[in-house]
Amino acid sequence: AALAGGDLGLADFRPVPPNRRDAVAVAAGFTSSVVMRWGDKVLPGAPEFDAYRQTAEAAMKQFGFNCDYVGLVPVEGRPNQALLVVNHEYTTAAYMFPADVYTDDEKRRIEMASHGMSVVLVRRGATPGSWKQVTPVNAAAQNRRIHTGTPFRVVGPAAGDDLLKTTADPSGTRVLGTLNNCAGGMTPWGTVLSGEENFNQYFEASGALDSRYTAQYARYGIRAAGSRNWKATDARFDLTAEPHEPHRFGWVVEVDPSDPTSTPRKHTMLGRFKHEGANVVLDKSGRAVAYMGDDEKGDYLYKFVSSGKFDGRGTRAARTNNLKLLTAGTLFVAKLTGDGDEDGVYDGTGEWIPLANERRSFVPGMSLAEVLVFTRLAADLVQPTKMDRPEDVEPNPVTGKVYAALTNNDGRGTAQAADEANPVTSSMVRSAPSAPLTPATGNRNGYVLEIAPDRSGHLARTFTWNLLLVCGDPAASETYFGGFDKEQVSPISCPDNLSFDSTGNLWVSTDGNALGGNDGIFRVPTEGPDRGKVQQFLSVPRGAEACGPLVIDEDRSLFVAVQHPGEITGATFEAPASTWPHTDDFPRPAVCVAYLDR
Ligand code: FEO
Ligand code: CA
Ligand code: CA
Ligand code: CA
Repeated sequence: AALAGGDLGLADFRPVPPNRRDAVAVAAGFTSSVVMRWGDKVLPGAPEFDAYRQTAEAAMKQFGFNCDYVGLVPVEGRPNQALLVVNHEYTTAAYMFPADVYTDDEKRRIEMASHGMSVVLVRRGATPGSWKQVTPVNAAAQNRRIHTGTPFRVVGPAAGDDLLKTTADPSGTRVLGTLNNCAGGMTPWGTVLSGEENFNQYFEASGALDSRYTAQYARYGIRAAGSRNWKATDARFDLTAEPHEPHRFGWVVEVDPSDPTSTPRKHTMLGRFKHEGANVVLDKSGRAVAYMGDDEKGDYLYKFVSSGKFDGRGTRAARTNNLKLLTAGTLFVAKLTGDGDEDGVYDGTGEWIPLANERRSFVPGMSLAEVLVFTRLAADLVQPTKMDRPEDVEPNPVTGKVYAALTNNDGRGTAQAADEANPVTSSMVRSAPSAPLTPATGNRNGYVLEIAPDRSGHLARTFTWNLLLVCGDPAASETYFGGFDKEQVSPISCPDNLSFDSTGNLWVSTDGNALGGNDGIFRVPTEGPDRGKVQQFLSVPRGAEACGPLVIDEDRSLFVAVQHPGEITGATFEAPASTWPHTDDFPRPAVCVAYLDR
């Protein structure tokens, strides 16, 4: 009760111990509540969710499946309301549908409608830090569902290129839908960015693959054989019929939640890869700098610097200018060089290698459009550093340093050689929280990388870096916690999404905990005597991944997306591995908010 605003950033809490509970467990003194579940009404006309009577038409008006990124955008003139913006990354039929109720085609249509994004008006609850949906939904005109049928406009230098043209869209500028939206970020101009990540899985071929794109498809994991069979429901997912359709996914998309009639956009200037997300910071000159990760074993960190400058006038014209910022600028990829292990720390220097700007390619042998559509192949030619699955890359708004979650790579030491930025080739893991530590090959627990841009700040071509965290169990010799006493930290494994509170503490969510416990959310000071003091604040239910996180509202609220509760091999709708949030006899992915229990 002695705590006030800033609760999450300032309060000393007793960490949540590793556990396998089927619950959202928060540190003592805090509580949490569910804000939106899979199937909850978003748009007028949405029926009450009924797992046995799902339709695609209903799903287009209901909260989608597998919530991931969470943003909270203020509503002008209404300080007690905000727009919750959420990604719906992917679907799993075995957890969504009871057996023998739906045809395969019905399932695919419902799954297509359950992808994308939701915009939901929320309001403050009675307890400071709590938030709930504004109901009924016809009182929330801004609410929106974006799904595989929603038109997007392609913008930036590759818009309209032949590589993006299809039978349905000879202009190469109009795409239906967004897929596998993972993480994201709020921009300084009030929009939300969202990364199209593992888009390759939706495409398959009924016959031959287009031989013009053999190397390109292979580099992006696009294969003739797949498991979703979406091509049977919508021919554009058939690579034989539409070889260019996959080129229209793998982008950063921008949504303006304040205008539900706006056409969301796909930004070609930010390159095409398995975008985890994008986080924008304004350099002191006013340029927009976006940091991005390509989530694949051995893939790269990227940065974009806008040509134009932020227009801070707050007028309609300023908004129009700001919406152009991500369409012109320079795209870079990162190379990290170690300074040797003799100093006892994993650290070194780095450079941002330019790939293209809005006028030309800097990669010999590739056109501007090719660099942007086949960014992975362009980057390969300039020899950046192969990282251990770059997830969120996020600037600390207090210190200006940049943090990247490098989630894991079981192939480090075999598929990719170790280097100082990716040094672990053998890790200690557990099968359960109480099981003994056992060795496993590769980097199983991940890192948090800290990047300090050189003097010119976010525009700098050079930087220094170090591994703030070598994650895992503190009892394992390979782990490192920013120099903090390992006796006093929580075990942490597989960092994924990052956020900062108002004092610059880092908040980390995890996906795939290799230490046998549920995933969770952890607070880590990055400066001062507590630098590296990892404390687990929250754990998510069995089989779930912790997404978001978002610390907001003067550090009173922590939003977390509980993605895929019960996703444990062998589980089905009838035999679930979780029933969280315990409103049904099957699990429902949901967004929660945690706050001080007053
Ligand atoms: Fe969708 Fe990179 O996690
Ligand atoms: Ca994720
Ligand atoms: Ca060193
Ligand atoms: Ca992940």
